[in-house]
Amino acid sequence: MREGLTFDDVLLVPKRSAVASRRDVSTATRLTRHITLHIPIVSANMDTVTESDMAIAMAREGGIGIIHRFMSPQRQAAEVARVKRGESYVVENPLTLPPTATLRQAQQLMEEQGIGGILIVDGERKLVGILTTRDVLFAEDLEQPVTTAMTPQERLITAPVGTSIEEAKRILREHRIEKLPLLNEDGTVHGLITSKDIVKREKYPHATRDSKGRLRVGAAIGVRPGFLERARLLLEAGADLLVIDIAHGHSDNAIRAIREIRREFGDVELVAGNVATAQGVRDLIEAGVDAVKVGVGPGSICITRLVTGFGVPQLSAIMECAQAARGTGVPIIADGGIRNSGDLTKALAAGASSVMVGSLLAGTTESPGIIVIRGGRRYKVVRGMASLGAAFSRQRAEGEYAETGQEIDWEKVVPEGVEAAVPYQGPVSDVLAQLIGGLRSALSYAGAFTIEELQANAEFIRITSAGQRESGPHDVELL
Ligand code: XMP
Repeated sequence: MREGLTFDDVLLVPKRSAVASRRDVSTATRLTRHITLHIPIVSANMDTVTESDMAIAMAREGGIGIIHRFMSPQRQAAEVARVKRGESYVVENPLTLPPTATLRQAQQLMEEQGIGGILIVDGERKLVGILTTRDVLFAEDLEQPVTTAMTPQERLITAPVGTSIEEAKRILREHRIEKLPLLNEDGTVHGLITSKDIVKREKYPHATRDSKGRLRVGAAIGVRPGFLERARLLLEAGADLLVIDIAHGHSDNAIRAIREIRREFGDVELVAGNVATAQGVRDLIEAGVDAVKVGVGPGSICITRLVTGFGVPQLSAIMECAQAARGTGVPIIADGGIRNSGDLTKALAAGASSVMVGSLLAGTTESPGIIVIRGGRRYKVVRGMASLGAAFSRQRAEGEYAETGQEIDWEKVVPEGVEAAVPYQGPVSDVLAQLIGGLRSALSYAGAFTIEELQANAEFIRITSAGQRESGPHDVELL
């Protein structure tokens, strides 16, 4: 019988270090074959963790978020679109309305899409004006047409297609305006440059962006009937990668789904999981994935191991899987069980290129769901996607089950996840700052300037329960 270890069973042995400052190290890594990240953290595709707000925050900080799939395909695609529309160098398809639209319609559209302005165009897509949130703020009659409140074309500053960002910045500054429509020669709208995008580009220099400057985002899909249609909608909405996410990823179902996605959509960036063995990794790579997600049962809200008796302690799983992936160019994403920056470092040192985290981020402002007060403290809810609560959720009823047309027999549901409360943590950027600060410090203990060097230099040492006790605060009364 083999022995399996997890994070608390080991420590990393310190190495001679040439790192003079935590600022000198790089936390950059590969998420998939073709997507790189500035920080090795992915927010989990759980309905209490990642929708568009979380995905935007994660990408701005240099990580990425995977939008969960427990909603209708249309809504999931809209969440993806919201991230892609969030910021870019040039908004290529700015939202438009005809001059006959009412102020109410414009207001609704701006709220739904989380944007500050709409271009008003005629039937030939020629620009006739711009309407911003400020224009409708104090409007007395929202049934009036947008033309009554917009800034008309003759008072607008515009620029021709091909205007550089630097030039746009100069024009915006000179005229003290916030939006610069780019027009084709015939006056039709080509795109839009906004001061907000330029500011954000400078504020988040390490953000995870695509070639057009839009934030990157991933989206989860399953393997039940309807998954190809969901995938199509997500890709049309601009998803940068698809994650085939099922509890037992080393299955014929998953492999069939990978092949079908490849056949249908060619070389889209594709992640699949979860697996916990070398053979699982090899089979998914052979089927054609760009990254493999590893973890069966380590998640904070998982009870798969209790319910089924199956699983592999996460550190051993990562080591075995990373070993199997070596030389193939396919990175490993370690999913589940990360509680702090020490676990993050151990997962990377064991061979993962990035980690996926759930409950660690579920308590942040950007996670879906509201703050609840218990005993005077603030909490948010996190739940396993195989928990009873998640199965019951309305979103899910509208989504996955509506898609497959299958009725659920509630009495026969065997949950493999739990629901829990996690302390409210404030913005995700604060949590990431702690995790990444810890990782930078860890790299200096490893004598490593990069995550690859950490992996090359890593020497694990097994510890006893006495060593484990020594590792935390002990023999003091915590304040
Ligand atoms: P953490 O520890 O970061 O783990 O909260 C998040 C990961 O847990 C997995 N997950 C589940 N596993 N039953 C399970 O066995 C569940 O109900 C469940 N929900 C989520 C998932 O891989 C996630 O990324």
